[in-house]
Amino acid sequence: MSDADEKKRRAALAAMEYVGHGMVVGVGTGSTVNHFIDALAGRRHDIAGAVSSSEASTRRLRDAGIEVMELNSTGDLPLYVDGADEATPSLQLIKGGGGALTREKIVAAASRKFVCIVDDSKVVDVLGRFPLPVEVIPMARSLVARQLVRLGGQPVWREGVVTDNGNVILDVHNLEILDPPALESEINQLAGVVTVGLFARRPADVLIVAGADGLQTLSR
Ligand code: A5P
Repeated sequence: MSDADEKKRRAALAAMEYVGHGMVVGVGTGSTVNHFIDALAGRRHDIAGAVSSSEASTRRLRDAGIEVMELNSTGDLPLYVDGADEATPSLQLIKGGGGALTREKIVAAASRKFVCIVDDSKVVDVLGRFPLPVEVIPMARSLVARQLVRLGGQPVWREGVVTDNGNVILDVHNLEILDPPALESEINQLAGVVTVGLFARRPADVLIVAGADGLQTLSR
């Protein structure tokens, strides 16, 4: 296991402390969360099930013997655990590097506690070094791209990628995001945008950062 992967595994194991008896757990997507799913498998008889944020996580959860439930039938969730592509010390995030941002934002919105798990390479003071993913209705791809250029970004179509919802992704380069909640609202308003991968209006509640020297936990 690489050093980076070992850090992801340690952050994921730390998130297990938030999993309570009988919970329905919201589960994110990505290589960090895969470690969380693997750990959750050992508690599968102790939890009620999971709500998944992607087809990929659904497969991994089912392979681990964990029941995957529909958000429409669970109501609000006590806990959501997910990774991020970038995170600030104020717990605002960029997500969507794996293309699952829309369902991730839905599950985060439905959850009372969002525990974000990252290795220390993801922590930044200002969001935007990682290209900001935006999920877009296919017919609006060029329209939205032109609007994103007006906002100062350089959108690049993630060619060949179709999201779980049948949409496309634009990755917006060269944004220095000084007011994340304002930019999140502005991009959300563009016709054709399904979701922007900024998680600032609903940031994480807890950020677990794994570094070479151990774990750091930040809370709001
Ligand atoms: C998935 O769309 C993303 O939001 C992931 O949460 C994010 O890309 C982190 O992925 P890794 O854990 O693989 O770095």
